[in-house]
Amino acid sequence: MWLRCLKVKLLVDRLFEQRSLPKADFIQLLENRDEETSNYLFSLASAERDRVFGKEIFIRGLLEFTNYCKNDCLYCGIRRSNRLAERYRLSAPEIMEACQEGYDLGFRTFVLQGGEDPHYSAGYIAEIVREIKASFPEAALTLSLGEHPLASYALWHKSGADRYLLRHETRNASHYAFLHPKEMSLNNRINCLNNLKDIGYQVGCGFMVGSPGQTLDHLAEDLLFIKELKPHMVGIGPFIPHKDTPFGTHPAGSVELTLFLLGILRLMEPSLLLPATTALGTLDGFGREKGVLAGANVIMPILTPAKDRKKYLLYDNKICIGDAASSCRFCVQRRMEEIGYNINVSRGDHPEYRI
Ligand code: 5AD
Ligand code: FES
Repeated sequence: MWLRCLKVKLLVDRLFEQRSLPKADFIQLLENRDEETSNYLFSLASAERDRVFGKEIFIRGLLEFTNYCKNDCLYCGIRRSNRLAERYRLSAPEIMEACQEGYDLGFRTFVLQGGEDPHYSAGYIAEIVREIKASFPEAALTLSLGEHPLASYALWHKSGADRYLLRHETRNASHYAFLHPKEMSLNNRINCLNNLKDIGYQVGCGFMVGSPGQTLDHLAEDLLFIKELKPHMVGIGPFIPHKDTPFGTHPAGSVELTLFLLGILRLMEPSLLLPATTALGTLDGFGREKGVLAGANVIMPILTPAKDRKKYLLYDNKICIGDAASSCRFCVQRRMEEIGYNINVSRGDHPEYRI
């Protein structure tokens, strides 16, 4: 017992020194983790985050502007086969109004997130991007719109979009196929991520923790993939079942394992933008605080207008769906102050990214 604990701590030390581990060691570390190792990992990870960013947490205003989606990912509540989802989409003026509200609340990053909704052509998205950047030139704009041709990604970047979030979901091809319909492929997802990087976006990938069929071996592959891709951001959160999906009765992922992975990611890439996600806050009332204490440095309060919030349900029991944008903004600030951190209202770019 004691010897095992010492061995796992040594793996954390090696991870800290080398910023990565061989696959077998990542699996060992995940398999044998315990409370003592976790606390050790979190103290190193927190110190790294504080060294790079200080006691500051970046906030992003998350605008979920459409829940129409042409995809059919088996885990997701807004998949096209879910006939029970009440659909909505925001018009360009509604998007501008929500950004204005976000701007007045101090947000200097907007994240436009939505399903893959063909209603918004590439040209229309480009117009929205231009309008947001013209109205709020000192704010950064992140897109999270799924898989698109290189030409669309390039057009949106030229129009002013700064960042793009596209979780890879899993680096294992057969696991990817288990989670997605036949017409989707891991290859295409990875090509999209490479294209986004080549174009010059700050790029985020990521995955769910505890998604159906996931093993520790898969998680080790995810970590090594992140090492190779070198993204600017990584979004991870626990899988949470949505009752009207094929995985509706699958158990949720573990908060504890999610926190452990946040700690690992912070040690691998000290300057990574690493959110404590809404899914983490959904499974645990203090999930986002725990995420920050494990190494996260970003929180994304929801900016979506009140009337539509309860419709953007990727999973059950999502928090904040009854709240106004201002409540979330100040709730997050209070929660961070309670654990000794301040909200930073600058754009919050990756430290190595020059605009
Ligand atoms: N539980 C947790 N996260 C989910 N996502 C989609 N469905 C779920 C779910 N049931 C995540 C996916 C996607 C991101 C926008 O939300 O990782 O990339
Ligand atoms: Fe939304 Fe606390 S962050 S209510």
